[in-house]
Amino acid sequence: MRMVDLIEKKRDGEALTKEEIQFIIQGYTNGEIPDYQMSAFAMAVFFQGMTAEETAELTMAMVQSGETIDLSKIDGIKVDKHSTGGVGDTTTLVLGPLVASVGVPVAKMSGRGLGHTGGTIDKLESVPGFHVEISNEEFIELVNKNKLAVVGQSGNLTPADKKLYALRDVTATVNSIPLIASSIMSKKIAAGADAIVLDVKTGAGAFMKELDDAKALAKAMVEIGTRVGRQTMAIISDMSQPLGYAIGNALEVKEAIDTLKGEGPEDLQELCLVLGSHMVYLAKKASSLEEARHMLERAIEDGSALEAFKRFLAAQGGDASVVDDPSKLPQAKYVIDLEAKEDGYVAEIVADEIGTAAMLLGAGRATKESTIDLAVGLVLRKKVGDAVKKGESLVTIYSNREQIDDVKQKLYENIRLSSERVQAPTLIYDKIS
Ligand code: URA
Ligand code: CA
Repeated sequence: MRMVDLIEKKRDGEALTKEEIQFIIQGYTNGEIPDYQMSAFAMAVFFQGMTAEETAELTMAMVQSGETIDLSKIDGIKVDKHSTGGVGDTTTLVLGPLVASVGVPVAKMSGRGLGHTGGTIDKLESVPGFHVEISNEEFIELVNKNKLAVVGQSGNLTPADKKLYALRDVTATVNSIPLIASSIMSKKIAAGADAIVLDVKTGAGAFMKELDDAKALAKAMVEIGTRVGRQTMAIISDMSQPLGYAIGNALEVKEAIDTLKGEGPEDLQELCLVLGSHMVYLAKKASSLEEARHMLERAIEDGSALEAFKRFLAAQGGDASVVDDPSKLPQAKYVIDLEAKEDGYVAEIVADEIGTAAMLLGAGRATKESTIDLAVGLVLRKKVGDAVKKGESLVTIYSNREQIDDVKQKLYENIRLSSERVQAPTLIYDKIS
């Protein structure tokens, strides 16, 4: 087989066989196929697409390019959840303890990553003492005991995806549905998920700005899961404005605690109940989605979800008393309100730009080397559709620097008020299974 022939075949719109796809991925991973040929191939896929079968083969070839995590020693069906990007997306912090509290095992491998805020691990590290440096044996033991543990990414998972994603980033080939779908799904499958619940975001703060694109991506991922024997379903949810109120690391931990108590933002709570119900159902802990939802609502009401969070934090060295006293989380030096300049209704809170404002404060990493300030970030006081009076707070800014004119300006530019009444956006657009 020669790479040049396979590039040509894809360029001309033909479908590749399983063997051909494996040849490409193996050759690229071990360095026999150079970046320039892989770039041409990625561009051919960008224009010609891939069939569902090809996309599934590509996914499995990437899974097989490296190590995979064996979760077979964990009792029960392991359901993983994946949200595609987003701003202030606190769902993982809530869903872990929430579904664990009703007996669904959550074996979470998580990362730090780049972005507006840190990844799940960064957020959790704002709890004093909490750490993810646990051995694989300890990880499995903890999931069996507490139904929830989080471990840092270790080992050589999906090296083909790492290499290809970096290449796509510099060759204008990121935005291809088969390439995105296989990239995300390969990582979930390598991490040992039996079943997968996807939360595909749409809107300004999402990868897929348009609803139709989000749906197409969700369909492609569900199709991959189904073809490779992992039950998969997707929810399409709104990311035109940030989810919940808090955007920042310790601030999101506090928001997760509030939500686990039933006192969190309505949109975050609702999305967590919907995603969580599907996780519980796929894990076969409930015989219907309605039953699953009731179980989760009860776990919030009777405090068992919050208890699960405390148990989980303590098991990984964290000071669980932060749950009852969030003032023990890192605190910013300056707390400054951004006041509305006029009366009106909030018409738009541009999610990605608000995320950038949080990053300007130091809540996220611009490069791999940047350090994160866990204490800083934003808490929205108003969301789209809310009425606001001149002088009322739109956002509370948590900062460790006193001079924040740049942040204020970015926020004013991206929180648009209207004199007319505005409808709150739909939270959940669709479900694909
Ligand atoms: N996220 C991924 O992990 N891969 C992609 O290709 C796009 C987003
Ligand atoms: Ca949030």
